[in-house]
Amino acid sequence: MYVQPDAGQSRPVTVTALRAMKQRREPIVALTAYDYSFAVLLDQAGVDLILVGDSLGMVVQGHATTLPVTLDAMVYHCAAVARGTRRALLAADLPFLSDSDPATAVRSAGRLLAEGGAAMVKTEGAGHRLPAIEAMAANGIPVCAHLGLTPQSVHKLGGFRMQGKTTEAAAQLHADALAVQAAGADVLVLESVPSPLAARISAALAIPVIGIGAGVDCDGQILVGYDILGLTPGRRPAFSRDFLAGHDSLAQAVGAYVAAVRERSFPAPDGAPR
Ligand code: KIV
Repeated sequence: MYVQPDAGQSRPVTVTALRAMKQRREPIVALTAYDYSFAVLLDQAGVDLILVGDSLGMVVQGHATTLPVTLDAMVYHCAAVARGTRRALLAADLPFLSDSDPATAVRSAGRLLAEGGAAMVKTEGAGHRLPAIEAMAANGIPVCAHLGLTPQSVHKLGGFRMQGKTTEAAAQLHADALAVQAAGADVLVLESVPSPLAARISAALAIPVIGIGAGVDCDGQILVGYDILGLTPGRRPAFSRDFLAGHDSLAQAVGAYVAAVRERSFPAPDGAPR
């Protein structure tokens, strides 16, 4: 059984620490949060990486996609989460078009770090996005890349669908993963891709690969915090699980998620929730 670290005693998680966890094959536990109280809950449960995701556009603001989220909103929520975070590494999403070119990306990321208190920014895509990743890395900004199902491209992708299913698409995703690492990304989030592909990419990369709907063989797992607590209205994504079911408190539920990821009992080996 995984023993939760005392968040007050533990050293803050850094990008170097995440890479060391990958080398030790110690699963990285990540969750999203959007406010101070949830940040305290997650941090004290031993979550290693807290992401202020632009999913807040859907689960906090009630939009149908993440596209309406503004940089001001991200900075606001990030600052609130930062006030509740002691140990976890705090990452924040660059919202739609706030990273459309290298100079804009560096300026936007600078706000998330300087005003929001983030220690890393997340950007979706490869290809056209590589110069922005290079520019942020060159400016000393830790970057988390995000490939697979990239929600900011939902209209281009034709919906929230699994990616990398054909041989060609899988090869492109693999090449993109190597490219974002070469451009200077410190972490990669892989969303909704077949488990065997995610396993191959995780093995090929030196940087940690954190999966969401990408099977158990990634270096870590991330989910939307509201989804694991049964808070998201409507249908929960198939790859998620309600960890509050069978537990008496939010703290117990988050603790169960942390333990399940550390023990690799979540997700189930075929990528389905268990
Ligand atoms: O916005 C978000 O919450 C995310 C995670 C689901 C990875 O990008």
